[in-house]
Amino acid sequence: MAKPTLPMNPTGWFQVAWSAEVGVGAVHRMHYFDREMIAWRTTSGAVTVMDAYCEHLGAHLGHGGTVDGENIVCPFHGWQWNTQGHNVCIPYEKHPNRGRRIRTYPVVERNESIYIWHDAARREPYFDVPDVFTGFDDGRTAADYHPAHPRGTLYREQLELHPQYVLENGVDFAHFTYVHKVPIVPVFTRHDFDEPVSYVDFTITFDNSVAGETSVADIHSGVNAINAGLGVAVTKSWGMIDNRTISAVTPVDDSTCDVRFTVWIGRSPKDGGAPDPERADRFAQGVIEQFEADIHIWSHQRYASPGAFSRGEYPGFTALRNWATRFYPGTENENDSPTADSAYTDAIGASRQ
Ligand code: FES
Ligand SMILES: [Fe+2]
Repeated sequence: MAKPTLPMNPTGWFQVAWSAEVGVGAVHRMHYFDREMIAWRTTSGAVTVMDAYCEHLGAHLGHGGTVDGENIVCPFHGWQWNTQGHNVCIPYEKHPNRGRRIRTYPVVERNESIYIWHDAARREPYFDVPDVFTGFDDGRTAADYHPAHPRGTLYREQLELHPQYVLENGVDFAHFTYVHKVPIVPVFTRHDFDEPVSYVDFTITFDNSVAGETSVADIHSGVNAINAGLGVAVTKSWGMIDNRTISAVTPVDDSTCDVRFTVWIGRSPKDGGAPDPERADRFAQGVIEQFEADIHIWSHQRYASPGAFSRGEYPGFTALRNWATRFYPGTENENDSPTADSAYTDAIGASRQ
């Protein structure tokens, strides 16, 4: 294993739990971005993620803290903190300490998942987390899929890898043959790296009955991916087993990340889905195994920069790596020049012909 050399404090959305792990009244401990944090859910159902230490005398709220209505109560002296991190009650004084605040993080709860916004410069979120169902504008909703948690999930803790490895996979056409054993090298039909949320579409088949003579033009299946920054990628498959996935990689400290993968299997057989939960579980395991094959590589990989890209690899990797720099503190916007984008677009256009 090799400690990633890319910065471990990128800006963006990062998954910190699945919703089911933080029930009403629960206080959930976690460690991300080198900080002790807690996630807790109020009586009304809202999730708050905040630093774990009480601003009074430093008790860890994840060890004995309790939820009371819309506040969390410290186990040490009973001070109460609200969902914005403000102190709202000192039980033995007339007034709360209005000046003290525990750091909270912007939270989005979506698709059975809890995400926080992390930004070293403490800016507000400037892009959103896509919805794995409605984000593809095809009329599908969660009702069209079997629930994912817990059996459609994979959780691996503290692997020595980096969120960018996972996204580079999306432009890495050559690995599909070796890691995923596909019969035909995928062809990209969209690379759009203009904004913090980027898009990658490709044609792919896992059907090994497709012979070597088959042209990629005859492949009628593929994957569309939306990358929301470096931490979260959502995908839709079409023309094969109907599934949606989220892969999420969240830095824990300066050398490791937690990896979460979630897969939803469609309910309708006519769309290639599974008509019952047991079959859905089996299909989900098949998709998870593909992701595990990637993890096996990533978790032992040493990041190569610059990589020895082949001619065909150069445009995709360069576009992705340029796009990724904007999420690293101190390098934002350096690679957003129109010149770089149009050179890349030209290269993609040429490679398609
Ligand atoms: S340390 Fe939390 S109330 Fe005193
Ligand atoms: Fe892969």
